[in-house]
Amino acid sequence: MQIADVQNMLPVGALLRDTYIVDDYLASGGFGNTYLVHHKVFGDRRAIKEYFLRGMMTRGGDGVSVFVNHLSDMAQVRLCLNGFMDEARRMHQLNNANIVRVHDVFEENNTAYYVMDYINGNTLTQVLKSRNSPLGNNEVRSILDQMLDALDEIHSKGLWHLDIKPSNIMLNNNGRAILIDFGTSKQIDKVTGEQCTSAIAAYTPGYAPGEQQDGSNKNVGAWTDLYSLGATIYHLLTGLTPPTASEIYNDGVMAFRFLQGNDKTLSQLVMWLMNPCIDKRPHSVAEVRAHLKEIEAKNVDNDAAIAQDHPSTPASQQQEPGTVGLMGTDAMRQRRSGTSNNSTMKSILIGLLALVLTLAAVFGVLYMINDTSHQRKHRGGSKKSQRRAKSLPRTIATLLWSIMMMSRLGNPIEKITSTQIGH
Ligand SMILES: Nc1ncnc2c1ncn2[C@@H]1O[C@H](COP(=O)(O)OP(=O)(O)O)[C@@H](O)[C@H]1O
Ligand SMILES: [Mg+2]
Repeated sequence: MQIADVQNMLPVGALLRDTYIVDDYLASGGFGNTYLVHHKVFGDRRAIKEYFLRGMMTRGGDGVSVFVNHLSDMAQVRLCLNGFMDEARRMHQLNNANIVRVHDVFEENNTAYYVMDYINGNTLTQVLKSRNSPLGNNEVRSILDQMLDALDEIHSKGLWHLDIKPSNIMLNNNGRAILIDFGTSKQIDKVTGEQCTSAIAAYTPGYAPGEQQDGSNKNVGAWTDLYSLGATIYHLLTGLTPPTASEIYNDGVMAFRFLQGNDKTLSQLVMWLMNPCIDKRPHSVAEVRAHLKEIEAKNVDNDAAIAQDHPSTPASQQQEPGTVGLMGTDAMRQRRSGTSNNSTMKSILIGLLALVLTLAAVFGVLYMINDTSHQRKHRGGSKKSQRRAKSLPRTIATLLWSIMMMSRLGNPIEKITSTQIGH
């Protein structure tokens, strides 16, 4: 937790709305302060965000009231306060496990507050920092699914978040990803069709597409949030700051630096979501989900084909179920070509051995026939030659059995190589 300006925050123990007691500081940003509080009667924990424009507002001598520094800023501060109240109203409409729940909003101390569920966890920025490494494919995929759920709910209410990024997504102690901070959000007015937004609109470079940067905000929509979601996934997968929209525009795919272990389905999705051209980006969560389903179905088919090639591959060497659908097509191809190379080698070996044994068998038989006719000519021949003639059928049977055994030699070879081709 980083608190930039503690002296401008409410003191621990302060009472808000005669109900919530401040227990701790959670954060302090340019537009507001966030506190951990508990309900005076029920004792349950909540988070409260306080409207506080840093640089324009100051805490009064009583430690709780807030004042505007310059009279000339009064109108601006009032306008933004209305935006803050709108932010709370918008969040209150949303009912989804992956969006922080807002319970209450009120004005007090010359400013405003809204009350949220307290999320016991960390933002994804903090998670990346504490782990000092990017997140794994499965974890990123799970966060992606949860954020698609969140965006589905937001967009279905005619709302756009417009500030999706790792520092606005929290991971609670049960591994649930929860979207916070609707300070930049917008909503289409159901009656007039006009866009309403908090006056404190801002954007974060690297997460904001072109249509958000020209200031007009004319062309923002669900596709804008999907772009930022793509940038967020990129950051989680690589640990790198996403390329800016203009870098992508100039350099194309070269602007992205995916890591070797990054899942192909996810990296391709990121490049689709982050297309600088609105028309080439998905326009709805449903479109993204349908695309993912299609890719995964293809991967499952590929896996089924591989399983047929390798019926004897032990279970311990197979992909864990959740990962199967996430395998990139290149990895699939690698696995498949590894498999066919082994089969070819095996066939050549068996063919050569069979040829040698067949030739040996033919020469053996010819030799025996020659020997037997020689014996007949010399009325019975030696005892040794007679024994040799009797063993002729046994020799042929032994040779045939050897050929059969050789054809089964392939299995151990197959087992070794299927372990080596790296699951
Ligand atoms: N409901 C919550 N539960 C726990 N911590 C929260 C909650 N909401 C916000 N925070 C903490 O406060 C920080 C700032 O919140 P945020 O809404 O993103 O405000 P801003 O970015 O405008 O300062 C977050 O990064 C997080 O650490
Ligand atoms: Mg934030």
